[in-house]
Amino acid sequence: MAGLRRMEYRGYDSAGIAIVAAGRLAVAKKAGKLANLEAELDDRHLPTSHQGIGHTRWATHGAPNDTNAHPHVSADGRVAVVHNGIIENYSQLRAELGEAGAEFMSETDTEVAAHLLARELAGNHDLLGAMRAVVGRLQGAFTLVAVDAEATDQVVAARRNSPLVVGVGDGENFVASDVLAFIEHTREVVELGQDQVVRISPSEITVVGFDGQPAEVQRYQVDWDTSAAEKGGFDWFMRKEIFEQPKAVADTLLGRYNDHGELVLDEMRGISQEDLRRVNKIVIVACGSAYYAGMVAKYAIEHWTRVPCEVEVASEFRYRDPIVDPQTLCVTISQSGETADTLMAIRHARIQGAKVIAICNTNGATIPRESDAVIYTHAGPEIGVASTKGFLTQLAACYLLGLYLAQVRGMKYSDEIRLITTELAGTPELIQRMLDDADRVYQLAHELADQNDFIFLGRHVGFPVALEGALKLKEIAYQHAEGFAAGELKHGPIAIIEPGMPVFVIVPPAGRDQLRDKVISNIQEVRARGARTIVLAEEGDAQVASYADELIWLPHVSTLLQPLLSSVPLQLFACELATVLGHDVDQPRNLAKSVTVE
Ligand code: F6R
Repeated sequence: MAGLRRMEYRGYDSAGIAIVAAGRLAVAKKAGKLANLEAELDDRHLPTSHQGIGHTRWATHGAPNDTNAHPHVSADGRVAVVHNGIIENYSQLRAELGEAGAEFMSETDTEVAAHLLARELAGNHDLLGAMRAVVGRLQGAFTLVAVDAEATDQVVAARRNSPLVVGVGDGENFVASDVLAFIEHTREVVELGQDQVVRISPSEITVVGFDGQPAEVQRYQVDWDTSAAEKGGFDWFMRKEIFEQPKAVADTLLGRYNDHGELVLDEMRGISQEDLRRVNKIVIVACGSAYYAGMVAKYAIEHWTRVPCEVEVASEFRYRDPIVDPQTLCVTISQSGETADTLMAIRHARIQGAKVIAICNTNGATIPRESDAVIYTHAGPEIGVASTKGFLTQLAACYLLGLYLAQVRGMKYSDEIRLITTELAGTPELIQRMLDDADRVYQLAHELADQNDFIFLGRHVGFPVALEGALKLKEIAYQHAEGFAAGELKHGPIAIIEPGMPVFVIVPPAGRDQLRDKVISNIQEVRARGARTIVLAEEGDAQVASYADELIWLPHVSTLLQPLLSSVPLQLFACELATVLGHDVDQPRNLAKSVTVE
């Protein structure tokens, strides 16, 4: 339970444990925070055991309730399994198992793994062999951990694209998705490689590949203290979350399109394709960073679908008698799914007859519950108050939605969609490259630490990125920062430019030359007035380089997708500047993570 408590940051909508005692499984699971499970265990005295598994859940498939909580147990009661990740082909497996007579208790993708394991165990495999056979049938990203009531002193786990570490103890061993879970027992760790299975007993650790070949493993010592461990060795959750973005974006894209270039959005169930074809206007409502993600979405959706799209701050929406009717599609974006302004806006839209699609990071939150359909971002818990991976995954989900609308409304051929989804699939690697260059941005934050005014400029999708860059700086560094559409500057704001004032400029990639040329003119305008220009431009853009005091290179990506990359250095800059200034980055003054009042 202590281990689970420290894992709660990864998910806290339900929790459960399964232990093996006297050849039987004892299972307890409960919706809600871990405290609910603890209360349940106070009432129910489980037998003593030193072999068990546990889980805290961040729901992806199936609402967060007692039944969908992990562990999931096979119908014969012999095997229990917990799972992180998404089993992408679970519906085929579920149908196949159903035809063979399996009955499912939950709505989760995980339960298929319990049934498959039981089937393999009945076929004379041991637990390790059964796990190997099962992972061969699964697609997607997963960490699975299982116990078999008939296998005393054993826990078996498998890893593909999801973390799994082994804690090497003295007469005891552990597996977990984060060292944090067992750090009070041991700091000696073995990290499993991709596609490996491990069996632990109190005295042995056996690691093999999915193909059964013994795997070489290396032990290392973790030197974190418990509080650093919670943040994965980072000083702030925010910084950790910035660095989690390649995975968060990849997870959000995972399983949402097939090899033929077709978007497959299972969660759109409440809105039919016919409904989407009838739509004559799209209205996006959201707050803060989510609103800026909506501004980016407008460019993509209108370009791909040719349907008029408005974006509005949720707190303004319902108070101005907006024109919304049954042919309006309302798209709402919210990391928490609980923002009151956003909730009220969608209630208003629904009363006017509009269908509502939510883009949300929190399974089962109020906004997705009150929407007709939902696209979940799979960012995992966002703890830092300033949104980072929440924002980037919102962008990814908006692109998916735009492409889906284009597909359903026949505005794009599947090969055109495939080109864009292929490019999208490559963005996590490019985001990683931005992160690998963090030191350059940090150095800039140190150099500019004595400045009190910052300007951010962008055009097209670079404009919302400029606004987001300024918001991050205000929120956590408490510095005066403003974002402008670069072309608007000469209509007034340019008057505030003073010698030495840092001006960040986001330059569109080559290929949109007219747009890029105009931004270059804007750089010259501010430079002529003495501004210190920090230019984010595409790698190798020699022309831009000559106008920049400082350069931050962005890998090549097409214009519409550039915000996935250009936002990253601005997040890093704000995080580092706030750190240098000695502020509490994760809990900035006056702010709360989830704003549940209007
Ligand atoms: C900015 C930030 C806020 C949120 C806004 C909406 O860093 O965190 O501006 O983006 O409060 O919150 P959600 O997305 O939870 O509706």
